[in-house]
Amino acid sequence: MANSSQTILVTGATGGNGIQILKLLAAQNIYVRAMVRDIHKAHSIFQAQGYAVEPSKIELVEGDFDVPETLLTALDGVNRAFLLTNSTDRAEAQQLAFVEAARHSHVEQIVKLSQLHANQNSPVRYLRYHAAVESAIQASGMAYTFLRPNLYMQGFLGFRSTIKEKNAFYAAAGDAKVRMVDVRDIAAVAVAALTARHEGKIYDLTGPQALTHAQIAAHLSLALGHSVAFVDVPPFVMRDAMTGMGMPVIAG
Ligand SMILES: NC(=O)c1ccc[n+]([C@@H]2O[C@H](COP(=O)([O-])OP(=O)(O)OC[C@H]3O[C@@H](n4cnc5c(N)ncnc54)[C@H](OP(=O)(O)O)[C@@H]3O)[C@@H](O)[C@H]2O)c1
Repeated sequence: MANSSQTILVTGATGGNGIQILKLLAAQNIYVRAMVRDIHKAHSIFQAQGYAVEPSKIELVEGDFDVPETLLTALDGVNRAFLLTNSTDRAEAQQLAFVEAARHSHVEQIVKLSQLHANQNSPVRYLRYHAAVESAIQASGMAYTFLRPNLYMQGFLGFRSTIKEKNAFYAAAGDAKVRMVDVRDIAAVAVAALTARHEGKIYDLTGPQALTHAQIAAHLSLALGHSVAFVDVPPFVMRDAMTGMGMPVIAG
């Protein structure tokens, strides 16, 4: 357990993982500093997500990964930091800026939310960027814990509307099996890493069962009491649908 004089900073605090981490730390009466871009907006998000901010247990500081001086303010006096950005083309640069600010601020340990199979030689760009940031943290001399989760189970909530309207969900997944992991389990591991000694560790985080999308459809059918189908979509159709929704086309 971290001693009470330790200051923990959580970034990405208004996101899927961040809120769960804040809830768990509050439940353990562990004081935390949360970095948010906009305190007013953060309060609304917390309220909407059922997280009641207790001022005695949390300090909100404004910080933006794209504005390095705000990172130095957020990191002032911090011993351990949880690092997470959302998935954009800016993610690697933003995280590298945070690592540099953390090193400058004499942070002792970074717990980085990475991704399963992070690798500098991966054909998948997000796996390359996570690996590049892991490498920079290791080279910085700060202690580290890397959490490498598989696909988030909560990502399936993105299929809500087609399941509701068409009793079906669509993906380019074929017969591949995936061990999806619940974000609440990732948060529990993050809290353990921030409050106990897990330095120098790299943890792959997966769910307990490898399932094909057809098997997931069978589980959803059972839970909902009516048939839900998985429709396998050829990758090029998926790509066209995603670009049609405004997503950028980027190689790798
Ligand atoms: N989805 C998956 O299945 C999966 C699997 C493995 C790993 N991952 C990794 O998980 C990470 C995303 O986690 P998540 O889903 O918990 O994130 P998320 O819900 O998308 O939350 C992103 C957080 O980052 C904050 N943020 C965005 N831009 C910022 C900026 N410029 N400065 C400061 N804060 C900023 C957001 O704050 P605001 O409220 O201000 O926007 C929000 O709190 C990615 O690194 C991804 O690679 C995802």
